[in-house]
Order: sequence, then C-alpha cells, then structure tokens
Amino acid sequence: MSERVAVVTGAASGMGLAIARELAAGGDAVALLDLNGDRLREAATDLTQRGLRAAPFEVDVAERSAVERVFAAVRDELGPVTILVTSAGIEAFDPVLDITPEKWERIIAVNLTGTFTCVQLAVPDMIAAGWGRIVTISSSSAQSGAPNMAHYVASKGGVVGLTKALARELAGHGITVNTIPPSLVDTPMARHAEKIGNIPSVDQIGKMVPVGRAGCPEDIAAACSFLCSDRASYITGQLIGVNGGMYI
Ligand SMILES: NC(=O)c1ccc[n+]([C@@H]2O[C@H](COP(=O)([O-])OP(=O)(O)OC[C@H]3O[C@@H](n4cnc5c(N)ncnc54)[C@H](O)[C@@H]3O)[C@@H](O)[C@H]2O)c1
Repeated sequence: MSERVAVVTGAASGMGLAIARELAAGGDAVALLDLNGDRLREAATDLTQRGLRAAPFEVDVAERSAVERVFAAVRDELGPVTILVTSAGIEAFDPVLDITPEKWERIIAVNLTGTFTCVQLAVPDMIAAGWGRIVTISSSSAQSGAPNMAHYVASKGGVVGLTKALARELAGHGITVNTIPPSLVDTPMARHAEKIGNIPSVDQIGKMVPVGRAGCPEDIAAACSFLCSDRASYITGQLIGVNGGMYI
C-alpha cells in the first residue's frame, strides 16, 4: 500500500500519541481521534508543522453517531481508512461491591464498545481495498487479572476476544487483527494512578520488570508500526506482548 490512511483513537496522549507520531513519520496520513480537544489539536498541529499528514477529530468513542460522523469526515479529508489502532481507554479502581451499574457501563462503553464501533466503521474500506491492519490496545490485566479492576479487566478481556474473533473472520480479506496488551507503560494514565495511590510508583514497578524499567509509549508504537506493515501479513489474531518480560 503506498497511500495509507490510519485512524488512531486516544491519540492526544500516551501510547495513542506515540503511535500516531510513528505512523505519520512513516508516511501515513493519520486521523487523530480523542475526547480531549485541546491536546488533540496540539498533537495534530505538531505533526502538520513537521510536514506530515495529520488531522484532529474530537470525539467520544462511546457515542456511536458522533463516531459515524467522524469516520465520514476522515474519508472526505484523508481518504479510505486502511489502518485502525484503538488506544482510547479509561481505567478505574473499585472493589467489586462498589462498582455501580453506571460505572460498569461507562468502562464497557468506552473500552469495549468504542473499540467495536471503530472497527465496524473502518472495516468496509479495508474490505474494499483488500488490505487492512487493525491493532487494539488491550491490557496485560486481561491475562493476569487485577484486584479492584473487575470492570476494566472485563472490558479489556472483551477487547482480546473481539480481536481474535475478527482475525478469523477478516483474514480472507487481507486484513490482520492483533492486540497489544501493555503491562506498565509510563503515560499520563499510569502517572495519574500513581498520584492518587492506586498503584505503587512507576519507578518501583519498573524495577520489578525483567528488563528493569517501565515501558515507554514508543516501545508500544514500534511494535504497532510493525504490525501495521506489509511485513506483518502473516501475524493475525495474536496478543503481542510488549512488556519487558513481565508476562511470558
Ligand atoms: N499506561 C499503562 O500502563 C496501560 C497498561 C495497560 C493498558 N493500557 C491501555 O492503553 C491505552 C492507552 O492508555 P495510555 O496509558 O496511553 O493512557 P492516556 O490516558 O495517556 O491516553 C488515553 C487517551 O484516550 C483518550 N480517551 C479516553 N476516553 C476516551 C473516549 N471516550 N473517547 C475518545 N478518547 C478517549 C484520553 O483523552 C487520552 O488522550 C488505554 O486503552 C489503556 O487502558 C495502559
């Protein structure tokens, strides 16, 4: 594929931002989607000022009709979508008895249904092109479990299952679907959890990682970029651990 259009959700911060930068630097036109309009526009401007193709689209991935409008706008502005990376996500820490129905529904709506919606809207272009790359960002907590995170872990487990189902269903169209389940990555999300005391310090956890440090967003972006390349055409339905050896 010479002309590739990538949609990256959660692109205003952390891993999504690093992935958007990596894909744009590699020559893709990148649609950056995020709820945080100010940081999103800043991120897109930074890319366009460097001569790269990028455009910001402010949206809540949990709002189906708004996401539909955004995908239509992406097609108009940049062209048919052949790469989708879903990094938009929220985390929460609550003992199971304190999880309200509203909180449960919001976590599932953003992390799982938001991922499904974006996939469903991107896949028709990929089928038409006979080529596509989908990378979901799940979580190693879906492999290991995590206390006080039943809602989050369930949503990410759903993302893993969605990824595997789609890999089988879409393989015949030249579309690969993989998930990266990060462990600890030093992003604003992790620093916020550290600050409010939901996790030990990022540096402390980093020392427990076999390679001796927490991940950085660029570690995830490098793997993602490879999964989006032609060279990864035989990799589909996989959990690609990028975790410094934490889970093997
Ligand atoms: N940081 C970690 O250690 C870690 C570990 C495992 C999994 N993850 C997952 O990786 C992904 C990226 O996390 P990060 O650490 O880069 O976090 P981050 O908070 O730095 O970035 C997430 C981005 O998603 C956006 N977002 C949140 N809800 C949204 C919505 N409804 N619609 C659109 N955008 C929305 C936020 O505005 C933010 O810009 C998330 O799905 C997260 O659950 C993170």
